[in-house]
Amino acid sequence: MEFSHVPVLLDECLEALAIRPDGIYADGTVGGAGHSSHILQKLSPKGLLIGIDRDSDALEAANARLSGTREAMPEGERPEFRLVKSNYGDLPAVLSELGIARADGILLDLGVSSYQLDSAERGFSYMKDAPLDMRMDRDESRTAADLLNESSEAELARILRDYGEERFAGLIAKRIVLARQREPLKTTGELVRIIEQSIPAKYRNTGGHPAKRTFQAVRIALNHELTTLEECLPGIIGALAPGGRLAVITFHSLEDRIVKNAFRTAEDPCICPKDFPVCVCGRVSRGKVVTRKPILPSEEEMKQNPRSASAKLRVFERNGAGGEA
Ligand SMILES: C[S@@+](CC[C@H](N)C(=O)[O-])C[C@H]1O[C@@H](n2cnc3c(N)ncnc32)[C@H](O)[C@@H]1O
Repeated sequence: MEFSHVPVLLDECLEALAIRPDGIYADGTVGGAGHSSHILQKLSPKGLLIGIDRDSDALEAANARLSGTREAMPEGERPEFRLVKSNYGDLPAVLSELGIARADGILLDLGVSSYQLDSAERGFSYMKDAPLDMRMDRDESRTAADLLNESSEAELARILRDYGEERFAGLIAKRIVLARQREPLKTTGELVRIIEQSIPAKYRNTGGHPAKRTFQAVRIALNHELTTLEECLPGIIGALAPGGRLAVITFHSLEDRIVKNAFRTAEDPCICPKDFPVCVCGRVSRGKVVTRKPILPSEEEMKQNPRSASAKLRVFERNGAGGEA
């Protein structure tokens, strides 16, 4: 299957990263290189692009796309790129393994790609009956089926509530546990039927597909999406060169809140009581939030690519002196 994914907020990201031709740029969620191929085009032979993804299929697609982009550039003007299978949470370690101290720009475009959603066998989609997989990294052993068959009812309810904001989390968790007592859950179709039976009829067709929130929640929990994001942002900001920028695209409020708070704390980490005349905690600002409000897709982009509708882009700029590491 061809890797189909339309990059979201592309022009806005390129502008936000303020790309310098000789700079080093890292894309922590390279996917099919939709954003990265445009970053590569802006680099000189002294520049470097590093693309990271947890998904080997994505890296294969990125390699084909970036090689094509590079070859289309005049000889003698071609920049280099490196692709690494890793978690973006390990981005600082990936850079240091490549002998790179800091990057001039870092992009994170969170969530799943359209390619992953459209590949039925990956089990991300409630529209296609397939094994309950949902692993972004297929070298990991634990699948969505394992999570759904092994977690306690209370844990399942918590996952659906916290990561899916599903108001019927308790009812769905109860039915999952009942169903798996007969036979372990195996397919996305079985999960969709359980969800449909759990949600009271009058709410079933409100707020999008009834399975949307549960599928999002299971995917987030299985792939540790929010914990990774929360834990790694300070380190990723630390991996920016002086004046370097981090651009993050989120697709739901849970992710956006984490990014907003991490950026705010990096800008103003002081924990002194408000009435202290001077700061005594010693925490130093690491830079500034470039986007007071998130950048949203235009009406035109939403029309062309409905998947962009929930996207929000936030940008942070490391201070000139580098600040705290
Ligand atoms: C929205 S897609 C990126 C699409 C890409 N910007 C493009 O335009 O082609 C998100 C990608 O991030 C990857 N991903 C998600 N979480 C990750 C993580 N923690 N570490 C590395 N890659 C991750 C997914 O496998 C997926 O390929």
